[in-house]
Amino acid sequence: MQLQHLLGIEPLHPHSITAILDLADYYADQNRTGVRKSEALAGCTQINMFFENSTRTQASFEIAGKRLGADVMNMAMQASSIKKGETLIDTALTLNAMHPDLLVVRHPHSGAVDLLAQKVNCAVLNAGDGRHEHPTQALLDALTIRRSKGRLHRLNIAICGDIAHSRVARSNLILLSKMENRIRLVGPATLIPAGIDAFGAEVFHDMEEGLKDVDVVMMLRLQRERMDGGFIPSEREYYHRYGLNAAKLSHAKPDAIVMHPGPMNRGVEIDGEIADDLNRSVIQEQVEMGVAVRMAAMDILMRNRRQAATEAQA
Ligand code: NCD
Repeated sequence: MQLQHLLGIEPLHPHSITAILDLADYYADQNRTGVRKSEALAGCTQINMFFENSTRTQASFEIAGKRLGADVMNMAMQASSIKKGETLIDTALTLNAMHPDLLVVRHPHSGAVDLLAQKVNCAVLNAGDGRHEHPTQALLDALTIRRSKGRLHRLNIAICGDIAHSRVARSNLILLSKMENRIRLVGPATLIPAGIDAFGAEVFHDMEEGLKDVDVVMMLRLQRERMDGGFIPSEREYYHRYGLNAAKLSHAKPDAIVMHPGPMNRGVEIDGEIADDLNRSVIQEQVEMGVAVRMAAMDILMRNRRQAATEAQA
């Protein structure tokens, strides 16, 4: 697998997805033991640049890098020269001149991370760009599903809520379709982009119908910060129609799992009791698998980089 960057799920072949998940499985098991440290990224410099707020993704990338022995730096973007008017590309070129090996970037604009990857000569990982992609989230969701269902194909999966503003939904839709699952998108018409059924998903506007007999219920946060108008009548009304509670979940298969990428709005898209129900909710496993998937992705990118450097010398 000669992946140079991890910018999205779209360019990945199913074999590459499986290879990342297999290595992540190994790291997930290792992370549960007392010996969590390895040397796969020893001597490497990893820079995390988050232009949008993040708790779990940034912490997860930092822990992943440190467990693999990398030197990890978190750029405080609020205090950076971007605030003085420097462009994203100039900041990237400045950092590039310090010879990092891995750049982990989150940016509010779709496409910004791809652009940056063209300007630097280190490996770039997309930690979420606008509404476009969030590849490591889709990979960690896939690993969580594979570990709890025992497979990652021929499952009925409902992705519910604010699809329109969600890079998580987009990356998941692409990944889960590539792995030959049946995807349903469930939400109000205002939050489902027109033409999305071209991706091969079925669209539902009623939760009970949409959840009928599914194996996986993936809830999404209502992304208020990306809304510029009246997408929903009120949060109360939204919860009533689209918030996941026990009654709505009873339409899914009895062993269906409940997922949420976080951060959650309890009482808006999901009932707190469902989120905390360890028999149904795998939300904490998602966070756990996040570290393992990021370790796997960075390990693979660094191996490819080293191999390319060796070939260039020969
Ligand atoms: C998501 C994101 O930032 O896209 N969160 C995450 O990475 N865990 C989803 C969200 O913000 O709702």
